[in-house]
Amino acid sequence: MTPVATNLYLVGFMGTGKSTVGRQVAKQMNFDFIDSDQEIERVHGRPVSAIFAEQGEAAFRKMEREFIENGHPAQGCVVACGGGLVVPPGMLELLRSRGVVICLHAPIGTIIERIMHTTHRPLLQAEDRAQRLRDLYAQREALYRRTGTMVLTDSRPLREIAAHVLRVYRHEAADFKG
Ligand code: S3P
Repeated sequence: MTPVATNLYLVGFMGTGKSTVGRQVAKQMNFDFIDSDQEIERVHGRPVSAIFAEQGEAAFRKMEREFIENGHPAQGCVVACGGGLVVPPGMLELLRSRGVVICLHAPIGTIIERIMHTTHRPLLQAEDRAQRLRDLYAQREALYRRTGTMVLTDSRPLREIAAHVLRVYRHEAADFKG
């Protein structure tokens, strides 16, 4: 552990493995693991899909901002951020002021395979889910590339991905000035 337990924020598109990798990395660092979607669901008492359906996406983005601003410990945690958390203007800067930001990445073909048949993601409620994913990915790809060091989560075992994330984290946490 670094002397100051700087938080680690994992960002990236849906299906890049933020929760799976985050849980593993947190275990190895002896940090708490927090998933932003799960935490928002817990605090607001309803699933993300219901928040989208009843209050709209803008309300959910506000909840994500509140979660980052005040809803989690300032140190000692690995946060798996919902895929769109980093999209609204100012969110990346906010995350960077809180800790190390690492972006998980996978090719769109892998993402489609991984999440095409999942049912809980409101943004995938479309007739052609694969096309919806391609469109969103195309819209956001440049932004994700600007967020931080990218770690590829395609075609390698979880322990290698986690080790890579840890190396990047240690390097960047040493320079972090919160
Ligand atoms: C979203 C990603 C989801 C969840 C919500 C919106 C997005 O999280 O926050 O459905 O805008 O990309 P995951 O990245 O964990 O699927």
